[in-house]
Parts: sequence; structure tokens; C-alpha cells
Amino acid sequence: MPQSSFFPKLSKTVIDKVRQAIISHHKRSGRILFSDTTLRDGEQMPGATLEPHEKLRIALALQDAGVHSLDAGFPASSASDVAAIQMMIGVVTRPVLTALCRTVRADIDVANHALQGNPPHKRGVSLFCGTSPLHRMHKLHRSRSEVLEIITDTVSYAAQHFRIVAFSPEDASRTEVDYLCQCYREAIDAGATTIGFPDTVGLLTPEKARDFIKAIQDGVPNLNRALLAVHFHNDLGLAVANTLACIQEGVNVVQCTVNGIGERAGNASLEEVVMALALHADQFDRRFSIDTTKLAPLCHLVAELTGVAISRMKPIGGANIFATEAGIHQDGLLKNPDTYLPFRPEMVGGGDIQLVLGRHSGRRAVAHRLAELNLNATEEQIAMLANLIKQQPKGTVIDDSMLRLFWSQLLDLV
Ligand code: KIV
Ligand code: ZN
Repeated sequence: MPQSSFFPKLSKTVIDKVRQAIISHHKRSGRILFSDTTLRDGEQMPGATLEPHEKLRIALALQDAGVHSLDAGFPASSASDVAAIQMMIGVVTRPVLTALCRTVRADIDVANHALQGNPPHKRGVSLFCGTSPLHRMHKLHRSRSEVLEIITDTVSYAAQHFRIVAFSPEDASRTEVDYLCQCYREAIDAGATTIGFPDTVGLLTPEKARDFIKAIQDGVPNLNRALLAVHFHNDLGLAVANTLACIQEGVNVVQCTVNGIGERAGNASLEEVVMALALHADQFDRRFSIDTTKLAPLCHLVAELTGVAISRMKPIGGANIFATEAGIHQDGLLKNPDTYLPFRPEMVGGGDIQLVLGRHSGRRAVAHRLAELNLNATEEQIAMLANLIKQQPKGTVIDDSMLRLFWSQLLDLV
């Protein structure tokens, strides 16, 4: 077994005790552990394919930001996923690297091979198996008890090769609650160190998500032996809200993606969850170790490498987040940036505040830009320029060269 080759003198009992102590410590600390799945669920979305060296760049940036673990790929699905994980070994050293596996022994073997060389406390597998009636009947053609047998068999097999074993019942949010809890109980008894709650089709609301977490906490007595993780899809635009609701209910691990990329409408966006926690520490009162100043550059890197553009309005990374054309907002921002911002750009490593000149902008912004360009204008000239800008046809971009042109035309007039 690879784990005993690293610590040949440690018996399985000692390893189990240490593992249990770490889980108990995480649970007592109340710390939220961020598991990032940009490189797996994110990359799975159509058009977001990454080459192994690009995955490595993103993994390093995620490490720098402070994520606890990386869902680094699905080794059984492609050789390129294996290559990417192997490139991370010895380079991406701080986060735990996990590999996605179906509840199939061969998948666990491929993951074991892909993660060879990473220390036992930094390598894990994340097993998933459909548990909802839809998945059991139409996809797996298995009964409830057959699915339970598969879970027990593969989780215990994984636990022979990995100290970190996560199990997620796919489509958990459409699984009967009593059966869901049974799957979790058996997975933990078989050796799962984390149990995941995926809202695979992204249909929950925060209230219903909280109810599921409460039911799991009540219905899984051996949950003291495993961490509880959540994974939300965004089909109703509620993935971040659902994640936050579950954090309030006490979950230990949240799985997110940068820019919220992922299957269909994507996943809970890492940067949004982090900033909600950072700005509302009074409400959540949970510690986490993400460096918020790394967020905007991380968003831009993921957009650049995946080719999935960030919407202008996307929180944290979008182009409009620190830009305004509205005169009243521009005036307020010039007096004190906090008047019209929830947080300063430097908190997320964002760029400068931009006062865009256009039909909606006012004299203060025009005066400010002229002064920055060392163009000394009178109040009357500023008013004339602001007026000229308002008359421009739709789509005109008033950048510095256009402003200088207007300025020289104005000087020619007088
Ligand atoms: O959304 C989902 O159910 C998943 C599983 C692989 C956990 O991504
Ligand atoms: Zn998913």
C-alpha cells in the first residue's frame, strides 16, 4: 500500500487514529475548507478544455490563493487528465490533490497511478455514484441495495489505497432522504473521510439546501468520523446562496469553481462565496484561508486559459465591477470610493476604479480626467466638453485620445 511505504513503522490503527484526530480537529475548528473543482467540473463544460500545462498554471494560482484541496481531474476519463495531475505532483505541494472516480475499482487504480508520488496526506479520491431514483432506474439499472453494495465495495477498496476518500451520492438533492443517509452511513463505515452533497442539477433553494444538511446531520450518526462537503450547480442562479446557507448550517467543505464555470449553468463561484464570507464575518463567524487579494487575477487567468469570457457584470472579475458612467456615482466615488462600492478594488486585487465618459457621465468626471491628462480647463470649458460628450452617438468610446481631440477642437473654437 502506498501510504505505508511512506511511514513504514505506522500501523493501520495508528494511521486511522491520526486521521480521525485530523477530522475531529477540522470539525471543532469550524474552519471552512475550500475545495476547488475548476480543473474538473469547470473544465468539463463545453469549450473550456485545458491543456495539462494550463491546468498546472491554474493549480499554482489556486494554491497561491489558499485553497485547501483541488479536484484535479478525472484520470479514468482521459490520458490528458492523468498527465495534468502528474505535472502537479511535487510542484503543487500545499493543497490536497484529489482525483474523481466512478464507483469502479479500475477508476481508483488509474487515480492511484496518476497521484503516485504525492504524499499520502496530500492525495485522495473523490468517488461518485448516482443514488436518486432517476439515476438508479434509468442510468444504473440497479436497486437501492445494489447501489449500497457498490458504494461499500468501492469506498473500502479506495480506503486501502488512499487516506483521503470522499464519497458523493450523485443527484443527492433528488434522492430519498432516508436512503441518502443510509448511503452516507455505509460510506463512512467503509472508510469515507468526506461525504459530499452534490445538487447535481442545481435545483435547490437555500431553505431546501439547509433542510437537507439538517437531515444529514440528524440521520448520519457516524458523521463525527467524516467531513461534510457541498457542491452546488447554478441552474437557478442560487449556487452561491445555497453554499452560504449550508455554511451557516455547519458544513465543513465547500466545493466551488473560479468564475463559476462548470456543467450547464456552472457551479458556485469561488470568488463570490469567499467575498460574501469576508464581508459578512459577523454573520458567518467561520474562518477560512483564502487570500482575497488573489481573486481577481485568478478569475482573469481562468478566463484567459479556458477561453470562457467573464460577463462584464460578473461579481469580482467582471469589467464593470469598478467602472461607472453615471454622473452621480462618479461624483460620489471621487469624494469617497466607498460611497458606491461594496469593497475597494485592492481587496480582490482588482484594477483601478474607472470613470467612464459617456452620455450618463457628469462634469466632475470630465474635470477629473482632464486634470489627470494635465489639461487645465475652466469650469465653462468643462461644461462644454461634458455637453459635447452627451451628444455623441451610441457606441462612441470616449477614451483619452477622443477626449484630447475634443479638447483641441474646443481650443480651436475660442
Ligand atoms: O454535480 C455533481 O454531481 C458532480 C459529481 C461528480 C459529484 O459533479
Ligand atoms: Zn458537479
